[in-house]
Amino acid sequence: KQIAFDGVLASEYLTEYELDQMGMKVQQAHDMLSAGTGPGGQHIGWVHWPETYNREEYARLKQMGETIRNRAEAFIVIGIGGSYLGARAAIEMLCPVFYNQWSKACRKAPEVYFAGHQMSALYTAHLLRLVEEKEIYINVISKSGTTLEPMLAFRLFREMLEKRYGKEEARKRIIVTTDLTHGPLRRLAEHEGYETFAIPDNIGGRYAVLTPVGLLPMVVAGIDVDAVLAGAADVVRLYGKPDVDNNPAYRYAALRCLFYDKGKTTELLASYEPGLRYVAEWWKQLFGESEGKGGKGVFPASLHFSTDLHSLGQYIQEGRRDFFMTTLWVEAPSEQVTVPAMGDDTDELNYLSGVSFHEVNRKACEGAMLAHTQGGVPNLRIIVPEQSPYYFGQLVYFFEKACGISGYLFGVNPFDQPGVEAYKRNMFRLLGKPKIT
Ligand code: PA5
Repeated sequence: KQIAFDGVLASEYLTEYELDQMGMKVQQAHDMLSAGTGPGGQHIGWVHWPETYNREEYARLKQMGETIRNRAEAFIVIGIGGSYLGARAAIEMLCPVFYNQWSKACRKAPEVYFAGHQMSALYTAHLLRLVEEKEIYINVISKSGTTLEPMLAFRLFREMLEKRYGKEEARKRIIVTTDLTHGPLRRLAEHEGYETFAIPDNIGGRYAVLTPVGLLPMVVAGIDVDAVLAGAADVVRLYGKPDVDNNPAYRYAALRCLFYDKGKTTELLASYEPGLRYVAEWWKQLFGESEGKGGKGVFPASLHFSTDLHSLGQYIQEGRRDFFMTTLWVEAPSEQVTVPAMGDDTDELNYLSGVSFHEVNRKACEGAMLAHTQGGVPNLRIIVPEQSPYYFGQLVYFFEKACGISGYLFGVNPFDQPGVEAYKRNMFRLLGKPKIT
């Protein structure tokens, strides 16, 4: 089984001719991406990664992950952007909903917290206090090793561990994921003798979720990473087909681009499962940072339904018509809840007695898609069979492949992020950093 992509509801917005034309552009983009001849072509290591990853490092990673899983009470993942969102997306999608609130005996894994993804004093102070009495391990993740947010958080947690356990023991509890050879974090790790995992040179941050960046936190949280990688590997061929008719990832990329050309410049990714919130956050970063260049690019935004139907639903139905929507739907939840029958029907809900919440959710989804389509919003749909590691792997690869192609359709380099430097330069100047590169 595979995740399915469905553009049927959007077909009335497009002609066969437009699709054929875009199909030809996709073919060219495909040739560039496959041969590495497009902009950023030195960063396409992720394309064959699910088949070619370093087995030795992977075995060491799983072993380390299992050790932490058994020993730690709290595991702190320190990173930002591509060094953060993939792991969080996986954990929120695949672990129990109230994961951190479960007992360790039930969870069979430590609580997982994130740090270094912002610089809030309050958040950081409260997190430090929360884990004060717990057995801690940390994984600091930064490819460059120079990003201020995670490096500041790492300094704090390193100090905490060294004070609490002494330098020797702290060393065993710090795991560093960074560039294989470059950067201050690599130098620090070598100097201190920390266990390290490498972010491949030819894979950029936001395309790195299936590397140690995402995999180590997943193992610690008890996620079956063999299944994650198998899911991605199983679709490498399908999403490697050059034509939009046979490649759902390319079809998705082509349709987004066509809608953009028609003035639908924002994409709303709507999901009906709270566990997919961070998949949407990861997706926003993937597409936003890859495509938003040269005054171009679809603006990626996310919605969480049915909650947001009661806030932004009005706007979606009748506001400006400059967006299209992609619904991310999970076909079968791993658990069901059914509406009970009541003797009295004062709340007038007995017509739903015996119906599962998921079926009600499904009808909300179908109803919303139909209403929005009629209201002038083209709707695409991605159906994920279930919230499992295998389909997480597929989904990641689907979006990565679509994003690489989409960047080339927009004529930009989908693998760099020069615009992110602008705020950093200002911030460093304001902070009085001695050398600003
Ligand atoms: O996609 C990217 O490359 C970025 O989002 C980076 O992941 C993010 O800026 C963090 O960078 P680093 O891993 O160097 O700390």
